[in-house]
Amino acid sequence: MHSPEELLALYEQKFNSSNFNESPSALYDPVKHIMSIKGKRIRPLLLMMSCDLFGGSVAEALNPAFALEVFHNFTLVHDDIMDNADIRRGIPTVHKKFGINSGILAGDVMLAYAYKYLTDIPVVHIPELLRIFNQTAIEIFEGQQLDMDFEKRTNVAETEYLKMIEYKTSVLLGCALQMGAVLAGADQENQKRIYDFGLNLGLAFQIKDDYLDAFGDGEKVGKKIGGDIVQNKKTYLLITALQAAKGAQLDELHALLNNTNEEEKIAGVKHLFETLGVKVIAENRMNQLYDKAIESLQSVMVEAPRKELLLKLARAVHERDF
Ligand code: IPE
Ligand code: IPE
Ligand code: MG
Ligand code: MG
Ligand code: MG
Repeated sequence: MHSPEELLALYEQKFNSSNFNESPSALYDPVKHIMSIKGKRIRPLLLMMSCDLFGGSVAEALNPAFALEVFHNFTLVHDDIMDNADIRRGIPTVHKKFGINSGILAGDVMLAYAYKYLTDIPVVHIPELLRIFNQTAIEIFEGQQLDMDFEKRTNVAETEYLKMIEYKTSVLLGCALQMGAVLAGADQENQKRIYDFGLNLGLAFQIKDDYLDAFGDGEKVGKKIGGDIVQNKKTYLLITALQAAKGAQLDELHALLNNTNEEEKIAGVKHLFETLGVKVIAENRMNQLYDKAIESLQSVMVEAPRKELLLKLARAVHERDF
């Protein structure tokens, strides 16, 4: 088996900076901008590691791995427009630097490139990978719509929140793992179990993302801390605070949601998160979901030592501070 470092080295070697050196440059410069700062590479890693776990050819997993990373970056470009975000990965967002129209079109072309790489695989696997990918993409867009709908509501239940993050975030981690399994010829039951590992890991991952948006270190996270608070995003922290707050604290929270002074709003809401004990509740929920993810991974019918690398990656993702 290959370590994550080895897999990423193969990946970076194949998809180096020469990608997207196409014309017209006004179309591709924004693509190169977002792709130039590497993210954590979680989705390509999960795809390659799952393929490796089930004994598949890592070389055949490279194109779909890149496809998912390009797709993920496309969703980030459009997400930053929708979320009114100025900074990502420590640099200006695409629409901030190039304008909204360029951000829209860069995203469009990235989606098409994702299909181009996804289908550059052994022909037998094309229909199944396309089926999984399309279903996942539809769910992501539905999740993104729910995320925007919830900005305008103050009564989002935890079950609604969990559905929203399952769609906008988790399904892509599940998809990456399932695709790796399909490429390696794993059976349906194992495909489902490895998918469920990604789904639960993704839920914990998004709660951590919410947490870091409020309480992370801006330098490490690469985003504006408090961005979700400004947008009235129904993060795990906010829905929990809205549940926990009573009387004067609830009035204060509602008033803060309508406060147009951004710094005052961020400081006030974070203070309430602390006093309401929301940080601890979020940590407990994250840990529960992480444990569930590990259970799913343990249920995959492959010798236990082969799962060590994925276990280690899951732990690193869970414990990250960026
Ligand atoms: C950010 O994903 C968007 C979410 C689904 C939370 P990542 O945190 O994986 O972003 P990068 O690719 O590492 O920058
Ligand atoms: C993003 O969720 C989900 C997708 C891009 C599909 P967020 O809006 O929380 O991601 P960040 O925090 O901007 O990276
Ligand atoms: Mg966002
Ligand atoms: Mg968003
Ligand atoms: Mg976020």
